[in-house]
Amino acid sequence: MKLFISAALATMEALSILSGILLLLLSGAQSHEPILSEKLIRDISNYSDIALKIIDYSLTGPGANQSYNRLATFVDRYGPRLSGSSNLEDSIDHMLYLLQQDGLDNVHGEEVNVTHWVRGNEKAQLLEPRSAELSILGLGSSVGTPEEGITADAVVMRSFDELEERKDEVKDRIVVFNPPYVSYPVTVAYRVNGASRASKYGAVATLIRTVGPFSIYSPHTGIQEYNSSVPAIPTACITIEDANMLDRLERAGERLTIHLYMEAQTLPMVISRNTVAEIKGSVYPDQVVVVSGHLDSWDVGQGAMDDGGGAFISWQALSIVRGLGLTPKRTLRLVMWTDEEAGGIGSQQYYQRHREDADKYSILFESDEGVFLPYGIQFSGSAEAKAILQQIGQLLVSINASEVYDNGGGTDVDWWREDKVPTASLANHNEHYFWYHHSNGDTMDVLDPEEMNLCSAVWAVYAYVLADLDDVLPRG
Ligand SMILES: *[C@@H]1O[C@H](CO)[C@@H](O)[C@H](O)[C@H]1NC(C)=O
Ligand SMILES: *[C@@H]1O[C@H](CO)[C@@H](O)[C@H](O)[C@H]1NC(C)=O
Ligand SMILES: *[C@@H]1O[C@H](CO)[C@@H](O)[C@H](O)[C@H]1NC(C)=O
Ligand SMILES: *[C@@H]1O[C@H](CO)[C@@H](O)[C@H](O)[C@H]1NC(C)=O
Ligand SMILES: *[C@@H]1O[C@H](CO)[C@@H](O)[C@H](O)[C@H]1NC(C)=O
Ligand SMILES: [Zn+2]
Repeated sequence: MKLFISAALATMEALSILSGILLLLLSGAQSHEPILSEKLIRDISNYSDIALKIIDYSLTGPGANQSYNRLATFVDRYGPRLSGSSNLEDSIDHMLYLLQQDGLDNVHGEEVNVTHWVRGNEKAQLLEPRSAELSILGLGSSVGTPEEGITADAVVMRSFDELEERKDEVKDRIVVFNPPYVSYPVTVAYRVNGASRASKYGAVATLIRTVGPFSIYSPHTGIQEYNSSVPAIPTACITIEDANMLDRLERAGERLTIHLYMEAQTLPMVISRNTVAEIKGSVYPDQVVVVSGHLDSWDVGQGAMDDGGGAFISWQALSIVRGLGLTPKRTLRLVMWTDEEAGGIGSQQYYQRHREDADKYSILFESDEGVFLPYGIQFSGSAEAKAILQQIGQLLVSINASEVYDNGGGTDVDWWREDKVPTASLANHNEHYFWYHHSNGDTMDVLDPEEMNLCSAVWAVYAYVLADLDDVLPRG
């Protein structure tokens, strides 16, 4: 047995050495990695003084803690900013005023039609085997219950596979989904599709375990989507703790009865705005580099991390450039998107409106995955463009933020891939992002002023240099 194992191990080792060699050969083969022209390398290196000025300005100069302080004032005053709410529109009005006060150019809102879902009151109670309140947050786009609520027995499913196996037990029941957290993109399928998957077999409502790795009894909301081929049933998230408890009770043979009451409804679409401000380019004003984050949020917490942080470091990038008296050759444009949370509604309309100018967009940056300690950016685009970004990254070695990873972009900028426009996002230590995401825990306390200073510097250096180089980034 032992012999067998070590032989197997030896084989595996040999294999892994082989694959290592293969990788080397492959990377050797790819090492016709675009070599940048000496002129371009010189041009980029020549920004080292400016990069240092940007870093100093942001870390210890007039910009120090500015993005954090501005964001705190903003979210303490307006709180969360749900699409369709007058609160979001009031906050946009104020944002336009702030951007004007900051001396930026061409400050304006671009109107878009956005979703208008309202939560109303909501409540869930476990009735059997014992009486207990279950903390819930209705999911975005959910319908409400009838006025008297829904009282039904519940079944707990750990996966869609289990739902298929036990589909005969689902009719007239509340289905509780308790999938283990794998990763956000994987596990979010239960939040997005759970209601319709269960409705297909006659469920009357669904309660979905919060999508996240950790909870102190916090439900986390988010968008869900109905499949028009089955009835729309009310759906809400519950805490990890309650999902596990219901799971244990069911497996212990207890009958579960739950009462659910939700007033949620979707109202007609309303007009909102993408918030835009610029530093007008001195040579190629029609060409643009976009930095962005979204201003809307869910209706819980303060929308500080998601995505006040991303929106405000993007503003800060322009603020730093203006504060240093710099004017890039092409236009540096800030966009604070509206109604990202329903699926990028605001950015999609921006794309539709501006895509005819796609060849004038050098790159779009989006920060919507946290503004914690940065280590660089993630990038999607051609190998040659990536090499240019890596060269710019060298200007950020002193703050440990020079890495350029693949898979850049995000909900609000991915539209532009259709036209092969490069996109990038902020790589940062966001390991705890989903602890707070879409919950009442998304407040200023999650963020750190000095980390935001670093993020702002990364954003400003990339944005300024790319807006000032002789050419727009090459396409794939
Ligand atoms: C290098 O940058 C400075 C400004 O920082 C500029 O005055 C100078 O012309 C640049 N040199 C080259 C060779 O581009
Ligand atoms: C920035 O915030 C940090 C952390 O709160 C604080 O220690 C520092 O003194 C602040 N710096 C400035 C310039 O206000
Ligand atoms: C919003 O939608 C309405 C109805 O579809 C349309 O008439 C209007 O032009 C849209 N407004 C904007 C700003 O897109
Ligand atoms: C909607 O449900 C039908 C029937 O189950 C299925 O064939 C279809 O793929 C679903 N559509 C989406 C968008 O999930
Ligand atoms: C960069 O990393 C080094 C080594 O870990 C550390 O000493 C330094 O403080 C870091 N710099 C910043 C700006 O975080
Ligand atoms: Zn977001």
